[in-house]
Amino acid sequence: MNWGFENRLSKLILEDGHCFYLAMDHGYFQGPTHGIERPGVAFEPLEEFVDAVFVPRGTLKNAIKSNTKTPIILRVSGGNSIVGKDLANEEVSVSIDEILRLNVAAVGYSVYIGSEYEHQTLMGLNKLVDQCAPYGIPVMAVTAVGREMDQKKEARFLAMASRVCAEAGADVIKTYFCDDFEKVVNGCPVPVVIAGGPKVDSELEVLEFVYTGMQQGAIGVNLGRNIWQNACPRGVARALQAVIHENATPKEAFELFKDMKNAK
Ligand code: 5RP
Repeated sequence: MNWGFENRLSKLILEDGHCFYLAMDHGYFQGPTHGIERPGVAFEPLEEFVDAVFVPRGTLKNAIKSNTKTPIILRVSGGNSIVGKDLANEEVSVSIDEILRLNVAAVGYSVYIGSEYEHQTLMGLNKLVDQCAPYGIPVMAVTAVGREMDQKKEARFLAMASRVCAEAGADVIKTYFCDDFEKVVNGCPVPVVIAGGPKVDSELEVLEFVYTGMQQGAIGVNLGRNIWQNACPRGVARALQAVIHENATPKEAFELFKDMKNAK
């Protein structure tokens, strides 16, 4: 550990030990995603509620104001699009010089465990950790992503994938909520944040899985579509902030959502 690392981490995991990251990285493989066609416009009203934003460098340079107070988690994997051959065929996509130049709080990188590109993406994580460690830059590993992973969102698989990424040196793991989620957290020596997934049917459902995941040991979330694809993104963000940082129950937080929605 060094001071720079501790300082960055303290901005990403608040004093209560919890965190709320807003994911807006989707454009790096799927283009102008609904809700973040103009990421800067989507981000500004949400900025006050979140602890960090997860973005690729194009969004960062073109849509996020350089005087932002919000810590940046930079997406540093890529190399394919949704119309390409295989989304899992990713590599480290940003040099350490650029990571330093952009003055980010952390980097995020996807590992496709169980895919044809498992070895490539796992070795990429190891190398990224080697490059970031001397400069005190925390690495968040994004596990169990990819189309073929949809069938594997169960605790045994996610626990294995999370542990493998932690052993490669990741400082934080982002993975999906599942039944028996405590098995994922308990088997992982570094903090776990909950990823989002496709938009679910109701706001209450989002608040419930976040609440339950945190009761079972997650330190927070990294969510995108369930926030900025909602009719009232600020309401969902405020409600999530209450669950994550104010010990609100899903029902209490849902009332905050409704208040904001009705006040619109
Ligand atoms: C995509 C990602 C996203 O950041 C992650 O999936 C969170 O976004 P959403 O809540 O929309 O799923 O890592 O690879």
